[in-house]
Amino acid sequence: MSASQQAEGGRVVIVTGAARGIGHAIARRFAASGHRVVVADLDGDGAERAAAELREDGADAIAVRCDICSRADVDAMVAAVRGAYGWIDVLVNNAGWDKVEPFIDSTEETWRRIVEINLLGPIRCTQAVLREMIPRRYGKIISIGSDAGRVGSTGEAVYSAAKGGVIAFTKTVAREVARYGINVNAVCPGPTDTALLAEVAGDNPNLVEALKRSIPFRRLGTPEDIAGAVHFLASDEAAYITGQTLSVSGGLTMC
Ligand SMILES: NC(=O)c1ccc[n+]([C@@H]2O[C@H](COP(=O)([O-])OP(=O)(O)OC[C@H]3O[C@@H](n4cnc5c(N)ncnc54)[C@H](O)[C@@H]3O)[C@@H](O)[C@H]2O)c1
Repeated sequence: MSASQQAEGGRVVIVTGAARGIGHAIARRFAASGHRVVVADLDGDGAERAAAELREDGADAIAVRCDICSRADVDAMVAAVRGAYGWIDVLVNNAGWDKVEPFIDSTEETWRRIVEINLLGPIRCTQAVLREMIPRRYGKIISIGSDAGRVGSTGEAVYSAAKGGVIAFTKTVAREVARYGINVNAVCPGPTDTALLAEVAGDNPNLVEALKRSIPFRRLGTPEDIAGAVHFLASDEAAYITGQTLSVSGGLTMC
């Protein structure tokens, strides 16, 4: 079936890091509108649980254990999706990781882990999926950046660099693949209420309160807030949008 014949609801969507948090909400959002969803995550059991939950709600979903830091895992994930569904319409590069600490105290080991997961992981998944999308002349790639990559964030120097890299990478790839009818965009959450934020806030409850005070809407983002923006960018409504960076942060970042 060609992409143009496909109903918008039935597209094949890979979401990395979809076992929990923002990725899980994105997977639920696509499943709710009838898309076929691939829950890809380093946490294989979590991915299985998330996909089973989607199927219980009537969706067509599969789980694939995949470490986006491994070329072999990413290639195997793409092959598994091709085997299950035949093609890939949408990739959401969501998996990410952070460690908050003063830059001066951070180690090379931490820098490498942050860059590997947050920058090279999305780059690796994007190339593997584009090889499937280009021959079909159709595709949507949405990468989850961060407002930290747009305006900086104290304690997140290398993470900000990696997310800034995701934004720059998005723009260049968007230019290169527009001729194939492929849209490439980035969504940048602000502080969003997930386990990652709880881990980052750690033993400092005042941090969350301070964040809320600095956000014009005076609340943290929810995973569903982010999912709505990603779903829009993957839809036909956004067919003429590419190379863009959309902050979803309650007005915290306006640029
Ligand atoms: N929560 C926030 O405040 C916030 C703000 C800005 C940006 N973000 C970004 O949003 C995305 C999702 O964040 P979240 O808060 O939901 O995080 P989370 O920690 O709750 O979930 C991340 C998921 O990614 C998976 N993952 C981690 N490393 C992986 C790897 N190497 N391969 C495959 N899967 C892997 C984890 O197993 C987990 O299921 C990340 O890219 C993060 O940087 C989050």
